[in-house]
Amino acid sequence: MRLFVVSLGCQMSVADGGELAAPLLARGFRPAAAPEDADAVILNTCTVRQHAEDKALSLIGRLRPWKEERPERVLIVAGCAAERLGEWIRGRFPHVDLVVGAKSIDDYPRLVESALASRFDALRESREAFADGTAAPGDPIGWPSPAVAPLTIMRGCNYSCSYCIVPAVRGRESYRALEAVLAEAREKAAAGAREILLLGQTVNSWRARGPDGIERRFPDLLRAVAAVPGVARVRFESPHPFFLDDALVAAIAETPAAGLHLHLPAQSGSDRLLSRMRRNYTAASFLEKAGRLRAGVPGIEVSTDIIVGFPSETDEDFARTLDLVERLRPAWAYTFKYSPREGTDAAAAPDDVPAAVKEERLARLNAVCDSFAEAALDARIGRTVEVLDENGGYGRTRDGFRARWDGPAQPGRLRTVRVTGKSKRTLRGECT
Ligand code: 5AD
Ligand code: SF4
Repeated sequence: MRLFVVSLGCQMSVADGGELAAPLLARGFRPAAAPEDADAVILNTCTVRQHAEDKALSLIGRLRPWKEERPERVLIVAGCAAERLGEWIRGRFPHVDLVVGAKSIDDYPRLVESALASRFDALRESREAFADGTAAPGDPIGWPSPAVAPLTIMRGCNYSCSYCIVPAVRGRESYRALEAVLAEAREKAAAGAREILLLGQTVNSWRARGPDGIERRFPDLLRAVAAVPGVARVRFESPHPFFLDDALVAAIAETPAAGLHLHLPAQSGSDRLLSRMRRNYTAASFLEKAGRLRAGVPGIEVSTDIIVGFPSETDEDFARTLDLVERLRPAWAYTFKYSPREGTDAAAAPDDVPAAVKEERLARLNAVCDSFAEAALDARIGRTVEVLDENGGYGRTRDGFRARWDGPAQPGRLRTVRVTGKSKRTLRGECT
């Protein structure tokens, strides 16, 4: 029995793909190289922008012949688009066996068991699968590196950014207990992970009261995970600027294992639009926070997200966004054209920036962001950097740049690489 997992969207979705696979792996499924070789496919969807949702729906449609060819195959559609469009997907695509929305992930093992119970003989599958020792329950699937372990510490989002569908499909914030997080970090480090990637929609809003009644906050968690034996690095995605406070800056600065990179989504540089987006900061206060971070953690790199073409965006608003990006000098940026999401407050306003204007603004923004990204890579040529080998000769620097090198390669090892050049967004180098 073979399983193929496709996860669209953010790293959290990719990590969820692993959780969705777990009950099937425990039943004896082994990873498949492609859907054609698979008896079950999990399609873990994203709905943050229309484009992502369209892609998910098109993949579901394309799996129809796959299912018709062998009707005993199992197709599971999960994640954020499944949450938003569950009923519609069930009606429109009868070849889908199970639709599980993002909010039901805790209930998923039970749902999948009942969906599979009538189809497979679990004992036989397990015997077959484990006979050759190629799979074990808990084997990662769909996650790119054995050296980097994703660890979800919170789910949901309590914000209400006016353009964003996430709070509707993921629900309110919930936090895992510190002890549960640490137990998982220890387990993952013992299994060979050197880097722990803490995940959550607004990961640094994490807080939890321990058995001693004392409330821990994200900076405490960061320090505690970094202290787990075997953990060489801790990164986290995606932080919210609101919770980037002095305590977090100090924790990053004082934790040698903390990654020297922070993703800080700005979204816009226009105070008028930031207020309409309900981001709870101004361009000046955002830049001030980024400045305090850089002063407190020398050498830290910052990346960002920007949306262009938000309803009513004028040339003046866009000029302010370019100005913010020029002041922030991000090491890289993810840039998006505004995409109205049904049910969000922003979608109630007309999507009035013409497509050609959005396109042109995006191109101008990308040119500025690309120049900073190139400069950051160029600045590293000739230097030595510390890299965690993720896949044998490929990995990331402590400050988050991708690197590929010639010389010794072994996933999980920290290497010192002399940077000799770059190609696309990746440093090239040599390791001796
Ligand atoms: N349109 C365009 N981009 C969006 N994002 C979130 N919602 C939308 C939307 N409706 C972007 C934001 C966020 C990133 C994950 O996706 O920049 O930080
Ligand atoms: Fe969406 Fe804003 Fe929450 Fe991020 S903080 S997930 S952009 S609502």
